[in-house]
Amino acid sequence: MSSLLQTTVVRGRFLDIQNLVAQAADIAEQVRYLEDGVLISEAGKIKWFGPWQDAAAHLPEGVAIQHYPEKLIVPGFIDTHIHFPQTEMVGAYGEQLLEWLNTYTFPTEMQFQDPTYAAKIAEFFVQELLKNGTTTALVFCTVHPESVDALFEAAQRHQMRLIAGKVMMDRHAPDALCDTPERAYTDSKALIEKWHGQGRALYAITPRFAPTSTPEQLQLAGQLKAEYPDVYVHTHLSENKHEIAWVKELFPAQQGYLDVYHYYGLTGSRSVFAHCVHLEDSEWDCMHATDSAIAFCPTSNLFLGSGLFPLKKTWEKQVKVGLGTDIGAGTSFNQLQTLNEAYKVQQLQGDKLSAFESLYHATLGGAKALSLEQQLGNFDIGKEADFIVLDLQATALQTLRQQQAKGIEDALFALMTMGDDRNIHATYVYGQAAYVQPK
Ligand code: GUN
Ligand code: ZN
Repeated sequence: MSSLLQTTVVRGRFLDIQNLVAQAADIAEQVRYLEDGVLISEAGKIKWFGPWQDAAAHLPEGVAIQHYPEKLIVPGFIDTHIHFPQTEMVGAYGEQLLEWLNTYTFPTEMQFQDPTYAAKIAEFFVQELLKNGTTTALVFCTVHPESVDALFEAAQRHQMRLIAGKVMMDRHAPDALCDTPERAYTDSKALIEKWHGQGRALYAITPRFAPTSTPEQLQLAGQLKAEYPDVYVHTHLSENKHEIAWVKELFPAQQGYLDVYHYYGLTGSRSVFAHCVHLEDSEWDCMHATDSAIAFCPTSNLFLGSGLFPLKKTWEKQVKVGLGTDIGAGTSFNQLQTLNEAYKVQQLQGDKLSAFESLYHATLGGAKALSLEQQLGNFDIGKEADFIVLDLQATALQTLRQQQAKGIEDALFALMTMGDDRNIHATYVYGQAAYVQPK
């Protein structure tokens, strides 16, 4: 491919968050809004970004300008917790976590022993991410190594940066979904060697959650992490009160749920814990001290009746947090819908979630939670060119509302309250349009 083919020039209205270290205090200074801006990408990276009036000297000759005068361009959304094999089971009725797993989830995941089936759902899943403006995700596969191959192969076809791993699970699940400590170790190790750092793929060691791993399996998971310190750890933590009580029964020697993971060497700056709805104070301190991250999954926490995540505490305790859809306990692939529910979860606790803070969580905050802020999260020159073109007026009601909008913050808030996949006009991955909404 000639370098000209790999160059993309996009002009329009751009909005991103440059940095954010404290809630609200500095948010206005960190918002970067260009009414008429230009982004030039070359070989997948942002080569230049700035106002249109300064762009002339940077525009490559012979490259058409893709102009979106009516739209809003933001960094690609980052989903810090999602299960690709649960794509087909969104909206499973009536249960909370532990019964939901046994009734719906485990039977669904058994189908992924068939590589053809896994490949079919993996492609659907990746298309659904792109259709919803999600350009990076941290993904659970199933216990079957073939499910990981299927997902990374689908992601590579679209040059997506995806982090994923094989589920480790050796008890409290159907035999057909259980591995052993040794098999989990050797299969995960082979997958790390095969995929971690291949193109944009990154690997996550993925024990499902403490109740479905024996101490022997968690010990080997920790050993693997020690052997490959730059791979991720991805699991669930403190989602549901019955789950927490069960962990305390199963691991009486540990001080609590998080201490189980910490004891086995599974906390750290590349460890992401989904949910953390009911953390104790000492656990918040451990999350901070180990630089571990949380995936906040509002649609899932509401759907399974798990509880209200105290987002404000992540600022107080300085714990990294990203946004997760947690499909299929979560009810939408769409991060606008996820933010809509996140806002309500904060309202129910007497807190406010602003539109700019929301944008931060869906982009740069997610990148920080995944230790990818050098590569992703905003339009800084040198970062990877993943971005989305938003249509703020995808329905008659949205048009009516947007005509009343009082500035960009209000427009963004209305979009986050009312928006969904109809608002994703185009999704660019590594500088190329990977999805354009059909007319
Ligand atoms: N805890 C353990 N497994 C799961 C899962 O698949 N989904 C959710 N939401 N929580 C879990
Ligand atoms: Zn989950």
